[in-house]
Amino acid sequence: MATSLQTRPAVSDGPDSPAPLLDLGARLTARQPGDRRFGAPIHAWYPVRAALARNASRTRLHGEWIDLPARVALDAVQTTTCGGWRLINRFGLVWACPAGSATPPDLPSPPESPLVLIAYSEAPARADYDQAVLGLLDPAHVPMIHNAWWWRSQARRTKTKSYSPSPFGFTAVAADAFASTPAYDLVSEDRKVSIEFRLPSIRLERVTARGFELINLTTVTPQAEGDVMIRNLILCSVAALRFGSPLLSAWGRTFLRQDVAILERLEGRSPHLPLVFAGDPDRPSAFYFASKAALLRAQRDETPYRNPVEAESLQWVT
Ligand SMILES: [Fe+2]
Repeated sequence: MATSLQTRPAVSDGPDSPAPLLDLGARLTARQPGDRRFGAPIHAWYPVRAALARNASRTRLHGEWIDLPARVALDAVQTTTCGGWRLINRFGLVWACPAGSATPPDLPSPPESPLVLIAYSEAPARADYDQAVLGLLDPAHVPMIHNAWWWRSQARRTKTKSYSPSPFGFTAVAADAFASTPAYDLVSEDRKVSIEFRLPSIRLERVTARGFELINLTTVTPQAEGDVMIRNLILCSVAALRFGSPLLSAWGRTFLRQDVAILERLEGRSPHLPLVFAGDPDRPSAFYFASKAALLRAQRDETPYRNPVEAESLQWVT
């Protein structure tokens, strides 16, 4: 894959060999955005840790190490001690972006009312970054990969979704497309469900109904070339659901293990083959590559992001 990489620092994060603090985000800030089709955008926010942590920790992004403080202030951008990275705490996650002049896509706005974290799971995968992101978008992904009975019915049905441009990406809305998900039957019938994709790799599903709000967030973080971390968390307005967190987090891990299994089966096949998009089911994937190219052009030319996605109604059978 074409993720831009610097030489990985010769340090270890093992418990027996404490390494000196290295904070190499600054090395990335000098990189100019190109118009590459493949790989992870450098100047963008990626989650690097759950916000709830007792201790400082170390993580990787774009092949570089980041030393994270124990606490990152809520919804306020701060920089790491050495100044190479910007950090922000939002949606229960710490997000990182190289410091520098290129403007990253805005993160989605925080929830208007306080929500409770009811599930968190993460899974590393040896996988191509773009393949992992396409898993957030591909309509065939859920029916083929996630087959729990309580998540979707086995019956095949035609789905129609309305796609429209939204900040740094696109949003799908459908009145009927989610009726096959038994889990959503727990929410009242006046529910509204939307699925937003936002660059670089954010899938944000919102379920709202009278007196109820739920956010289901899935992300892909490029830790190093060929290494990604997939994260999922669920925030909800029903505080009592926090008591179900161990079970819900276990279900989340089950889903992520299914994602990792399919990604690692794909690993090794060239991600740089010519792209072929076939019909409506591949339109979201085409939107993704067009959106990423638009972001890299805007960053390179220092111009506003021009959303290449136009409203479309797409249909498929799942
Ligand atoms: Fe998945």
